Amino acid sequence: MHHFIFKNRELYCEGCKAKDLAKEYGTPLYVYSRRTLTEHFDKIKKAFRSIKPVICYSVKANSNLTLLKLIVAAGGGLDIVSGGELYRAKKVKCPPERIVYASVGKTDLEIQEAISYGILMFNVESTPELHNINRIASRLNKKVRVALRFNPDVKPKTHSYIITGKKETKFGMDSETLKNIFLEQYNYPNIKLAGIHMHIGSQISQAGPFIKAIGKVKKIITQLRQKGIIISYLNIGGGLGIVYNKEKPQTAGEFANKVLPLLKGLDLKVLLEPGRFIAGNSGIFLTKVIYVKNTPVKKFFIVDGAMNDLLRPSLYGAYHDVVTVNKNLKSKTQNQKLADVVGPICESGDFLAKDRSLEAKQGDYLAVMGAGAYGFSMSSNYNSRRRPAEVLVDGKTSYIVRRRESYQDLTGNEVILKKL
Ligand code: LLP
Repeated sequence: MHHFIFKNRELYCEGCKAKDLAKEYGTPLYVYSRRTLTEHFDKIKKAFRSIKPVICYSVKANSNLTLLKLIVAAGGGLDIVSGGELYRAKKVKCPPERIVYASVGKTDLEIQEAISYGILMFNVESTPELHNINRIASRLNKKVRVALRFNPDVKPKTHSYIITGKKETKFGMDSETLKNIFLEQYNYPNIKLAGIHMHIGSQISQAGPFIKAIGKVKKIITQLRQKGIIISYLNIGGGLGIVYNKEKPQTAGEFANKVLPLLKGLDLKVLLEPGRFIAGNSGIFLTKVIYVKNTPVKKFFIVDGAMNDLLRPSLYGAYHDVVTVNKNLKSKTQNQKLADVVGPICESGDFLAKDRSLEAKQGDYLAVMGAGAYGFSMSSNYNSRRRPAEVLVDGKTSYIVRRRESYQDLTGNEVILKKL
């Protein structure tokens, strides 16, 4: 469920007409629904209420400060993966005890900054990283909490680029390495080994792989506890899939019903790191048709949004529904050529949608649905395009939450060498 719906053939975001937003703020434009965002956070909170987990929203999905602030205000924590994301977390005053930090390549400076802020824990992905955190913590005279990231070697059904829990991937540790570290934790006097972390991948529709992975981690926890090791935290990651097209993902409730019985009686503080589930259907991407180009074989809607704004279709072949904002005409008439929605970038891979039955004319606005997660956060300035503005809708009111970049923003950090 989300709050982007058609009323009288006009697309609305909550109480605002998409067309009016496009006119007021210009295109390309990201539009977010406050209600959709907080309702999705609440869905997870409610589904897991019996164990009161720490829900750390995965900042990488959409790191806009206003969205982060809303999630923190709703009681959420943040899952971060860089110094930049820590900076954002601090900016929205996320309490440090609600921050977890993953990533296979944390640098010394990033580790130091996170220790100084007093985050809840690092999710550590390798032995050298653990040594390094221990060294930096010792220099700072601190003892820091750590969960080891377990790579359970399970294969969820999703795009190969976003599978993270197979043993061939760079993430986490195998069970033997992980157990040995727990058993030899005296080697790390400035580390408090407190738990286990997992994140098996993204856009996963079924509970199966999660269940498999949790089963494996339970075995490890039991074995370690038998040897007197204390384990207090289990982070089961993010990865819950959403509807883009014809997917039938489990609901938060269904997911919890399958997972909760496995966690019962384990006496663990559970953490979750959902990103897409919260942000994905909370945002759309509005773009304007610049030209309609007919070729002997195809029709192209050339729009002012491009792969630099929304990379998912180009990078993963991801499907996003595309609709016209003022009529929802999707039916295919006879002889109608299928259309591609493409941007102005000089690559054939620059498309937002392929082979769609879509009717639109020059000047019409199109909405790319389900663009709230991994949309703006993966955008770039390729082809020296200014990144789009972002708007948050709250009922009948809209607010700019990131202004459109200017040409000055594009070149502001560059230097024209005088000597050459
Ligand atoms: N925790 C960790 C350690 C992660 O690496 C990720 C996502 C998450 C949580 C949140 O996963 P989510 O709940 O959003 O599935 N750019 C890709 C998705 C990459 C996901 C990376 N890691 C896409 O557009 O589909």
